[in-house]
Amino acid sequence: MPRPSVIETGELQVILEDIADRVAGMSERGKVAQYIPELASVDLNQFGIAVAPIDGAPVSAGNADTLFSIQSISKVFSLTEALQHVGATLWQRVGREPSGDPFNSIVQLEHERGIPRNPFINPGAIVVADVLLEDRSSDEAVNDVLNLCRTLAEDASIQVDKAVADSEMRTGSRNRALAHFMKAEGNLKAPVEDVLSLYFRQCSIAMSCRQLAVAGRYLAAAGQNPADGSTVLSAQRARRVTALMMMCGSYDASGEFAFRVGLPAKSGVGGGILCIVPGIASVTAWSPGLDAKGNSHLASIAFQELVRATGWSVF
Ligand code: DON
Repeated sequence: MPRPSVIETGELQVILEDIADRVAGMSERGKVAQYIPELASVDLNQFGIAVAPIDGAPVSAGNADTLFSIQSISKVFSLTEALQHVGATLWQRVGREPSGDPFNSIVQLEHERGIPRNPFINPGAIVVADVLLEDRSSDEAVNDVLNLCRTLAEDASIQVDKAVADSEMRTGSRNRALAHFMKAEGNLKAPVEDVLSLYFRQCSIAMSCRQLAVAGRYLAAAGQNPADGSTVLSAQRARRVTALMMMCGSYDASGEFAFRVGLPAKSGVGGGILCIVPGIASVTAWSPGLDAKGNSHLASIAFQELVRATGWSVF
C-alpha cells in the first residue's frame, strides 16, 4: 500500500499555488462565524495555505501570513499543556469519544455526569482549561499557552487578539451555561469566570497559516519539536492527540473530514484547519467562511485537493 511520502519543495509550491488559484475562483465560500461579533466582520475573500515539513522550510501560497483567530485550534495546544502537567489523570475528567453533536452542545453533559465526550468540543476544552488552573492564575495559564505557541511556531510575536477575547467574553452565554453545568456536576474546580477568561483568551490567539503549520510539526514528528529536538510530548501521547484530532477534531463533521481527506485535523470557527501528515509535515489552510458545521468551507476543499495531489492521506 502506498505510504505518504516527502514531496520536493518546488513541486509542493506548484501544488499549493494551484490550490490557492482554484479556490480563489470559487463563488461558494461559506459564512463567517456570526455568534462572535468580532469574527463576523472578517473579509470572506481570503485564503491561505502553508505546509511545514518536519525537516525543511515552510512552503505556502495565498494569504499564508495573514493573522486570524485560531479559535478551537488552540484546543490542541491547551491539551498538550494539560498532558504535560497532569498526564493521564486528565482522562478521569474528559472522554475520548466523538460526540456526533455540535461543538457547543449541552445535551450529552446531562446524561454523562458533566464529563464531556472529548477535549475538542467546547465543554471538553473548558475542563482542560480548568486543569491548567490547578496551580496557576488564568493570566499565568494564558501566558503558558501563548508561550507554547510562540516556542513551537518559532515566533515570539504571537499574541491574544484582545478585541476577539472581549467579544467572546461579552457574548459567551452558551459557554457559561456549559461551564456552570459542569461546575454543578463537580467537574470544574476553579471559579467559572476564571476558567472562561483563560478559555476565551486561548481561543483568541491570532496566528497565520505559516505560524500554525510550523507550530504543529511536533505532532508529525512523534512529539519532538523539529526546531531543537526537544520533547513536547512523548511519542505515545503525540499519537493519541492525533488520534483524537482524527476522530473529534472537526466536531460532528469529523467522520466526513476523515472520509474526504483522511488526515488528523483540528478546525476553528476563525476558519483555520490544522492537519497533521504523520512523519512528513504539518499543514494549515485558512479561509474565514464556514460550512453549516462550523468548519471552513474552502480550507476543507483545499485539503481534499492537497491529499489528491500528494497522496498524503493516512489511509
Ligand atoms: O467557544 C467558542 O464557541 C469559540 N471560542 C470556539 C469554537 C470553535 O472554534 C469551534 N469550531 N469549529
